[in-house]
Amino acid sequence: MADLFSLKNRIALVTGASRGLGRDMAVTLAGAGATVLCAGRAAKDLDTTVKTITRKKGKAAAVILDVTDEDSVQRQVRALVRKYRRIDILVNNAGVIHRDNIVDTATPDYRKVIETDLIGPFALSREVGRHMLERQYGRIVNISSIMAVLGRGSVAGYVSAKHGMTGLTKNLAAEFGPHVTANAIAPGYIRTELNVPLQQDKKFCAMLEQRTAAHRWGTPADLRGALLLLASDAGAYITGHTLVVDGGMTTILA
Ligand SMILES: NC(=O)c1ccc[n+]([C@@H]2O[C@H](COP(=O)([O-])OP(=O)(O)OC[C@H]3O[C@@H](n4cnc5c(N)ncnc54)[C@H](OP(=O)(O)O)[C@@H]3O)[C@@H](O)[C@H]2O)c1
Repeated sequence: MADLFSLKNRIALVTGASRGLGRDMAVTLAGAGATVLCAGRAAKDLDTTVKTITRKKGKAAAVILDVTDEDSVQRQVRALVRKYRRIDILVNNAGVIHRDNIVDTATPDYRKVIETDLIGPFALSREVGRHMLERQYGRIVNISSIMAVLGRGSVAGYVSAKHGMTGLTKNLAAEFGPHVTANAIAPGYIRTELNVPLQQDKKFCAMLEQRTAAHRWGTPADLRGALLLLASDAGAYITGHTLVVDGGMTTILA
């Protein structure tokens, strides 16, 4: 069974690998045998991810990449394919959030979230996907959110982008089959830098503990199983799917 989830000899590109969920996912993929290309904007933090992997005898390299810079996306993908010969797994994880009510949100702030959380994954899936189609192998895993399923006040750009990601994932599946799969993981609330204000909000934490069957915040480790399923041969017949990993938050009316 271990072979089914093995990523031995696979090359994986993970965006937003400099911290948070992206760093944990990069370490997880490397632990399963993949060579992980850790992409992001902060060289020093990417190096920390790479060192975490190499200390555990895994293989990794840092890649400077801003997912909103289309020229950089095209250039880097071309360079990586030239150097590593292939990209087998793409994890579109990089993301930002802007917290404000719609009436107080300036269009550039809304646009920045859409460009990072939706257009970035589109451009990367197109560039990497073109190459995966040629090679007739690929696993695309988009990191979505339960905000792809629910609305929530004060994060309109994020909710819009993540709902869009559900559609993008379905369309990638429709166009990229049969050898390339595209799926999304929709995490609930996982403790990272992205949601520090919520972690410090006692009322929110009480609501979260009541609304999750798990009665707790998630940790990056809670996503590892879903990631390995969708990134490996074990997920060969799963495509176009958004897998919610939220401790039950969106299935319970508390
Ligand atoms: N934490 C949660 O509860 C939660 C729940 C659901 C979904 N998610 C999703 O999970 C993903 C990761 O979130 P996180 O919680 O790990 O957040 P985080 O700790 O804030 O990390 C965000 C990552 O995205 C990168 N990034 C942001 N803008 C970028 C850009 N333009 N180009 C390249 N990289 C960029 C950041 O790198 P830099 O160093 O370059 O800024 C960082 O590595 C996001 O898509 C988020 O929507 C998180």
